[in-house]
Amino acid sequence: TYIGIDIGTSAVKVILMGENGEVLDTQSESYGFDSPHPLWREQDPNIWWTGTRTAITKIRARQSYAWSAVAAIGLSGQMHGAVCLDEQNKPIRPAILWNDGRAFKACEVLNQQLPHLGESAGVPAMPGFTAPKLLWLKQFEPDVFSKIRKVILPKDYVRLKLTGELCTDVSDAAGTLWLNQQLRHWDENVLAASGISSAHMPRLIEGNNISGTLTTETAAEFGLSIDTPVCGGGGDAAAGGVGIGAINEGDAFVSLGTSGQIFVAKERYVANPKKLVHAFAHAVPDRWYQMACLLNGASPLAWFGNISGHAIPTLLEEAEQQGTGNGSVMFLPYLSGERTPHNNPFATGSFQGLTSTTERHHMTQAILEGIAYSLRDCLNALSEEGLPFQALGAIGGGARSRYWLQMIADVLEVPINQYVGGETGPALGAARLAMLSVKGGRLEEVCATPRVSEAFQPRADRQAYHREKYQLFTEYYQRLEPTMS
Ligand code: XUL
Repeated sequence: TYIGIDIGTSAVKVILMGENGEVLDTQSESYGFDSPHPLWREQDPNIWWTGTRTAITKIRARQSYAWSAVAAIGLSGQMHGAVCLDEQNKPIRPAILWNDGRAFKACEVLNQQLPHLGESAGVPAMPGFTAPKLLWLKQFEPDVFSKIRKVILPKDYVRLKLTGELCTDVSDAAGTLWLNQQLRHWDENVLAASGISSAHMPRLIEGNNISGTLTTETAAEFGLSIDTPVCGGGGDAAAGGVGIGAINEGDAFVSLGTSGQIFVAKERYVANPKKLVHAFAHAVPDRWYQMACLLNGASPLAWFGNISGHAIPTLLEEAEQQGTGNGSVMFLPYLSGERTPHNNPFATGSFQGLTSTTERHHMTQAILEGIAYSLRDCLNALSEEGLPFQALGAIGGGARSRYWLQMIADVLEVPINQYVGGETGPALGAARLAMLSVKGGRLEEVCATPRVSEAFQPRADRQAYHREKYQLFTEYYQRLEPTMS
């Protein structure tokens, strides 16, 4: 059996996978994030480790038989986070996350100093990426900056706790801007422009290679052998791709987690920096991918659940039952700023068209539509030269909703496939990479596409409504943009 650990933004998810790739058990442990100032999003790295330990302990208690056969561990996690370590490998300050917008000025500096950054690093500097955060720290927290010995990514902090190793994989390194995507190694020029060097970087390996084995302490705590290997793993986007079998040219999916993405696998490296498309190294060798990324995936729905005091399934059910399908309420989902297509950390969310007759289900409907229209923006960015895929798989928590997937198929005018276990996402990819690291095997077999549970075809009778409302959505943002700062 294999353990897959995904260090998400709102929870850590641990899965246990059997020798035939089946998911035997899963356990999630939730946590929050801190926002001590506008645009800031931070987490204490120790909450990832605490959550991982709790989830592992619970699975172990339930799976004593399968546990004795654990052959390897794989890691996946939220990308781009800056975890700054001192010379004792202790975090100096809270991690600065992928949806943190504070480093917007540092991005201008990097993009000016390195005009070809988008070609080598796969995308120009945008707030939330790791490189501009280091420039920000240099300027605004010089005491912290002077103590930094290593900068690592969120899942690699958990690796450090598991194995004592400072190591990352190319697909997570891809989101730092310090990786040359084509060559898959650190780029000394970009590191220098961020005020650091490759001496500050962890060791770099491919996702299906082994980074090390468990420390005596963790092996004893988890009841595993000290020889248990921990493989490179992957950033959550790439690990999600491995989990759903998106590894060959044109394999594509939409991810509806805290963030949202449309992801297309590539067999060679092709950058498209003008459209802010991310062209990153994949978690398997000799593969890359293109991705358009939303900072607001399913998270506005979770936000609305919190403030309205209703669980997400209830909101979805209300919208499905009550919705006429043609709502006049509009919602901009930019609660955490936005990356594609606006690259604007100051973007905010808003409702428009509320009246005294508006009910909760109208607002839920508008939220689901607003996120679907943002995905349309992603699709447009990716399909400049025609649609690079025939259908999209769906992963992440949002992929559980048939109602939403049908709406997204209608808005994108692309068939959407719901998969059996599709909500498992990156943790499954991490477990598959663990299997590849110790057992090898054909990539297409280990990374098979899960069975389709339902296929949603775009409905012709929804086209006119959504095309018109998408147009209004675009204009609404353009009108409001000057007020967002
Ligand atoms: C990808 C991205 C998010 C984070 C958090 O570029 O920012 O997917 O990895 O999930």
